[in-house]
Amino acid sequence: MEMSGLTALVTGATAGIGRAVAIQLAQEGAEVVVHGRDARRGLEVVAQIEAAGGTARFVQADLTSTDDVLRLAKEAGEVDVLINNAGIYKFLPTSEMTDELFDLHMNLNAKAPYLLVRSLAPGMAERGHGSIVNISTLAAAVTTKGTGMYSASKAALEQLTEVWAAEYAGRGLRVNAVAPGPIHTPGTDEMDAATLKAVAETTAMRRIAEPEEVAEAVIFLASRRASYITGVVLEVAGGRLGIS
Ligand SMILES: NC(=O)c1ccc[n+]([C@@H]2O[C@H](COP(=O)([O-])OP(=O)(O)OC[C@H]3O[C@@H](n4cnc5c(N)ncnc54)[C@H](OP(=O)(O)O)[C@@H]3O)[C@@H](O)[C@H]2O)c1
Repeated sequence: MEMSGLTALVTGATAGIGRAVAIQLAQEGAEVVVHGRDARRGLEVVAQIEAAGGTARFVQADLTSTDDVLRLAKEAGEVDVLINNAGIYKFLPTSEMTDELFDLHMNLNAKAPYLLVRSLAPGMAERGHGSIVNISTLAAAVTTKGTGMYSASKAALEQLTEVWAAEYAGRGLRVNAVAPGPIHTPGTDEMDAATLKAVAETTAMRRIAEPEEVAEAVIFLASRRASYITGVVLEVAGGRLGIS
């Protein structure tokens, strides 16, 4: 119960990686603010946490709207752990990328975490403790044709991770990122099986992982066990294949 007494906000906790992180945080004793847009799935996650003896509440917000992000920060209240997980990934060559998709990637993957950190980190620093984990992607570091906007938005998030770690170091606040490889989630279930298999073949382990395997790394970085770690991007991606 290493999170007991702490409040954690997990964005995009109604599905996939965020859901697994929310459930594991609650198992460790955190009071979890489950965020998403889909109230039905959000309340299901809350019910699952409560059935296991944990504490959680759902806050609905569309993170492409600045007003909604700021309202979420307000309704979450005093947060000790912030997991910036909600994200979108649409893979298209640059020639087919629309203005709307450009804005969607930047607003959800980079601007929403920026607004949440700007709103919540000062309180954490004032209270002298806090931990933020941003969910990036391996695609921010590995050049992949067709993932341009997604990779760029997450590369922005990784750069912000390092800057925030430096800005808040010494004030009890650590900021890290996790960069997953291919993971089985409702998001990737929408992709065709051949594409998913091809992505899995780019990992040294040659498999897709489950959201719980990413959550383990997120919980570690968020916990006091990682007390001397800040500003890192931890790959949870089955290893890089390498050149043979
Ligand atoms: N799955 C992978 O293979 C993989 C690999 C690397 C990195 N990642 C990153 O991991 C994170 C989670 O991915 P996932 O695959 O678990 O995602 P997912 O299954 O598609 O779920 C996305 C989550 O984000 C929320 N969300 C989407 N748009 C939103 C919006 N406009 N406002 C508020 N919330 C919104 C969804 O909430 P609602 O459904 O309630 O709206 C849902 O909870 C993302 O940042 C993604 O980039 C995933």
